[in-house]
Amino acid sequence: MPPSDIASSPPAAGESRRLSQYLDHAPPCLRWADLPTPIERLPWLEAGRNVACFIKRDDRSSSLYGGGKVRKLEFELADPRHQTTRPVVSIGGFGSHSLLSLALFLRRQRRRLHALVFDQVVTHHARQNLAVLASLDTQFWSTRTRLGLGLSQLAYRTYARPEVSGVAVAAGASSALGSLGFVEAGLELAAQIEAGQCPRPDRIYITAGSAGSSAGLALGLALAGVRTQLRLISAVEPLLFNRWLYRLKLAAVWRELRRRGPRQALPSSATGWLQQRGVDIEIDHRQVGPGYAVPTAAGQAMVATAAQRGLHLETTYTAKCVAALHQDLERETVPPNSTVLFWHTHADNELAPHVRPGWEESLPPRLRRVLDASRPALEPRPL
Ligand SMILES: Cc1ncc(COP(=O)(O)O)c(C=O)c1O
Repeated sequence: MPPSDIASSPPAAGESRRLSQYLDHAPPCLRWADLPTPIERLPWLEAGRNVACFIKRDDRSSSLYGGGKVRKLEFELADPRHQTTRPVVSIGGFGSHSLLSLALFLRRQRRRLHALVFDQVVTHHARQNLAVLASLDTQFWSTRTRLGLGLSQLAYRTYARPEVSGVAVAAGASSALGSLGFVEAGLELAAQIEAGQCPRPDRIYITAGSAGSSAGLALGLALAGVRTQLRLISAVEPLLFNRWLYRLKLAAVWRELRRRGPRQALPSSATGWLQQRGVDIEIDHRQVGPGYAVPTAAGQAMVATAAQRGLHLETTYTAKCVAALHQDLERETVPPNSTVLFWHTHADNELAPHVRPGWEESLPPRLRRVLDASRPALEPRPL
């Protein structure tokens, strides 16, 4: 269908945010997320400045486990590859939100998670995520560093029996298919702007790790014609996330869109098209600090400030993202009279009910030793 036909047949209410309005062969979707997520004003970040701050509340995207991951999983786990009772295998830090959301949502499919995990700083938050993972009967293969994951994967492929080995889900659920969930997120924001729920943001702050969220969002905003600057606040070191890797991620999601029968002509390269559509991308590594998942003072300050306003951030991703926004506001590098939006990608759900007493016993001995060694530092606060 040529673009003029889209304009001449306005979508039904709520449908303009669906990929099916843009693709002849939109992929199946489990529709697990509670969408659209609300947009609210953040007066405490504005602090009387001449800048309007908004928040996109993906923390409320699911009553089971919100955040950005459910948007990806509802596409990823709807794929025919997943029409099986076999487990899923995926990778991440042992406190990974991606693994956690996988384990929680896989229960709806009566499936289990095989988690290949690397060590990270043992914060209360990471420990609680691990507690839920273990309580959901996740089977672990653990290694000390991210580099060691290659060997873990090899060992897993060699030793897991084929009939019980897992169907692979990419790190952060950021496969091209999963990232389409964030293309829809861009369409969703466009529909909210159109409905007057917030002005068009001049800047959007979103954190980036495996970058499926931000790649999908950029393409979704461009498809819907929202001109903006996306500031990708990296949670990982420049070697693991940079302009080059982001282009690869964009290209993969772009290919997925193009092969699904787009109703408007899409050129072969995403990057030139994004520029043409007025979506500008900046990658910012200034908040990474000592490394991935290492809390920083600026991030911890944001966790505390946000908590006083009832907003739940965590130190690996979202606190660093808000710290970047806060710093830009303080240094007055956000132009006056502009509108900025923080895309909140972390779940706001209570996890304690999922934790089973004695969960530590199901961990591999090496992982238990890591937890035991960190116990004195964590002792003052309950789980
Ligand atoms: C809370 C949270 N926000 C953002 C991200 C980053 O999303 P992406 O991996 O798509 O860049 C993650 C990744 O795990 C996450 O856990």
